[in-house]
Amino acid sequence: MSTDNDKANDTGSAPLHGLLAEYDNPTALVRAAEKVRDAQYEHWDTYTPFPIHGMDPAMGIKPTVLPWIVFWAGLTGCVVGVGFQYWTSVIDYPWVISGKPFWSIAANVPIAFETTVLFSALTTLGAMLALNGLPHPSHPLDLKRRFAKVTDDRFFLLIEARDKKFDATDTRALLESTHPAVLDDVAEDRVTSDKLPTVILGALAVLTTLAILPFALAYKARVSKSDQPRIHLVPNMDNQPHIKAQQESPIFADLRGMRGDVPGTVAQGNLQEDDHLYRGKLEGGAWARTFPKEIAPSEQNMKRGEREFGIFCAPCHGLSGHGDGMIHERAAALGQGTWVQPTNLHQDYLRQQPVGELYNSITHGVRNMPGYGHQVSVEDRWNIILYMRALQRSTAAAPTDVPESERGALK
Ligand code: HEC
Repeated sequence: MSTDNDKANDTGSAPLHGLLAEYDNPTALVRAAEKVRDAQYEHWDTYTPFPIHGMDPAMGIKPTVLPWIVFWAGLTGCVVGVGFQYWTSVIDYPWVISGKPFWSIAANVPIAFETTVLFSALTTLGAMLALNGLPHPSHPLDLKRRFAKVTDDRFFLLIEARDKKFDATDTRALLESTHPAVLDDVAEDRVTSDKLPTVILGALAVLTTLAILPFALAYKARVSKSDQPRIHLVPNMDNQPHIKAQQESPIFADLRGMRGDVPGTVAQGNLQEDDHLYRGKLEGGAWARTFPKEIAPSEQNMKRGEREFGIFCAPCHGLSGHGDGMIHERAAALGQGTWVQPTNLHQDYLRQQPVGELYNSITHGVRNMPGYGHQVSVEDRWNIILYMRALQRSTAAAPTDVPESERGALK
């Protein structure tokens, strides 16, 4: 008995799905639900446009077990997270990093937290679907025109015909006694399939395959051999076709990969042809007595020389150059016999020494003093000598070194 123009369904031959009662206010529905609950029906449900407080007790619904399922899933996630990290960093690949212990719970909290959340979240979704028997693409109520009002202002109660207590007359009488606005038969849905649409199933299959693909490829790469270089998504300079030390090269007849420089090769900017500037020597090999033209005795160069002398020379030779720097003081305090005192730079032979020879001493070292050519630039070596000369003057100046105008003050 269909009271309204339902959507196409062969109601005549379709078996009865259940009895649908419609109410126009929530209170009536709650009262009706209480009656049905007390009559001990099992397969029935209520449908409302919004959640109604008190509906769960009115229907006699027990609290869901979902929280427990999620709790155990979360616990499993936590154990898996901690366990997997323990396994990787203590058992499978124990690797000392900065002397830290292999195992520290603090370092593993973030991952364990994440796996806990991940397992809980996925389980919540999965268990919710499973407990509700979803997905359930078709439902006989979908064919009821009136039922569409469930999203607006009507309240429904459906008792299914498969319920053990269901009886065509008794159940109808029970529902009549709840004073529904409309009471109606619901026929089984013979029109729509209850299977998921092929499109969705197909999409799920494709997505699943795509999700597995990277793992499958990675696995294949691990277990198989290839003479092709690995695929690098961002190659940068990972794969350079160069020959490593001692490797063979098919390019040369003698197959040696390591080749000497072509005779006479000089790196760019390293020609250093100027003997005066780079070696402190004049043509013919004598030590230069003058500064190279690149190093003018300017205030700027002098300051630079003072700075570099303070960094590289003063630790041994002392700030004033008397051979009493901190390193010497400490070494002498240790009293060990092999220490040679840094030379006092205020000695006559050093005052006379050509600047070229001083340059050579700084560059290559002299007797027990190490060379500083690899640390101090060419220009700075000359600047240091400039400053050294000033230091030397400071302890052995002639009256002629004082400007004529101020010589009178000396007396
Ligand atoms: C690590 C300590 C140390 C530092 C740093 C050092 N020297 Fe020396 N220097 C020595 C010692 C020691 C000697 C004496 C070597 C010997 O007689 O065996 C010496 C000797 C010298 C001499 C005398 C060379 C000669 O012909 O007798 C000069 C000049 C000199 N140093 C200049 C410098 C300058 C300039 C610097 C800074 C660039 C410098 N030293 C940095 C320890 C040092």
